[in-house]
Amino acid sequence: MTALVVAIDGPSGTGKSTISRRIAAEFGLAYLDTGAMYRAAAWWCVREGIDLADTAAVAAQVRELPLQIGTDPREPSFAVGGEDVSVVIRSTEISTMVSAVATNLDVRAQLQDRQRAAIAAEQRPDGFSGGRGIVAEGRDITTVVAPDAQVRILLLADEAARLARRARELHGTTDSAALEATRDQVVRRDADDSTVSNFTTAADGVLTVDTSTMTLEESVDTVRGIVTRALATI
Ligand code: DC
Repeated sequence: MTALVVAIDGPSGTGKSTISRRIAAEFGLAYLDTGAMYRAAAWWCVREGIDLADTAAVAAQVRELPLQIGTDPREPSFAVGGEDVSVVIRSTEISTMVSAVATNLDVRAQLQDRQRAAIAAEQRPDGFSGGRGIVAEGRDITTVVAPDAQVRILLLADEAARLARRARELHGTTDSAALEATRDQVVRRDADDSTVSNFTTAADGVLTVDTSTMTLEESVDTVRGIVTRALATI
């Protein structure tokens, strides 16, 4: 059996994480949230008192990051040195500062290596998926981390749709105060992150799915269709 690798990229608020988890669970695949790895790295540097502007110090710290990754799509988890950080890495504090770590090119090279190792582990029978494969999502999976994946998808949505989704997720409403409070996390962060990865135009061979006017179910249906067709060919 050939392991299936599904690579999904896109900016914040496209439904990427929810769709990726759902697809992984449905197809019996492992799930890798690469954004959480950058978040865990940022959390650890802050905890250790590292100045995030000191790129060499951050890179040296991340080299020692004792990160444990749980790839069960029903319960993805991240621990640092045995401490479960799955919830704390989602805080506004970390969301605000994570781009400083994610735009550090040395850190990126290190975490990309760890991501490739996690993907390779799912090609083997002793991986979480028993060798069935993995869905990996982020900003550079289709282009840099797993350009040979059998399925490569770029999820897009217009800015208004992405802002509204994040506002609803973080504040439970899409009133103007919630939209403004979310703007930094969506627009500014994506602008910062896009200085090091291109996740707004599809590379050759990458399928674009624009979820602007889709419900979550419609987005999942579309991705499920793409994965099902790919499975028939491997
Ligand atoms: O998807 P997220 O918000 O959890 O991502 C956290 C940060 O990491 C965000 O600033 C984008 C960045 N990131 C990245 O640069 N490359 C990836 N493959 C995944 C995330």
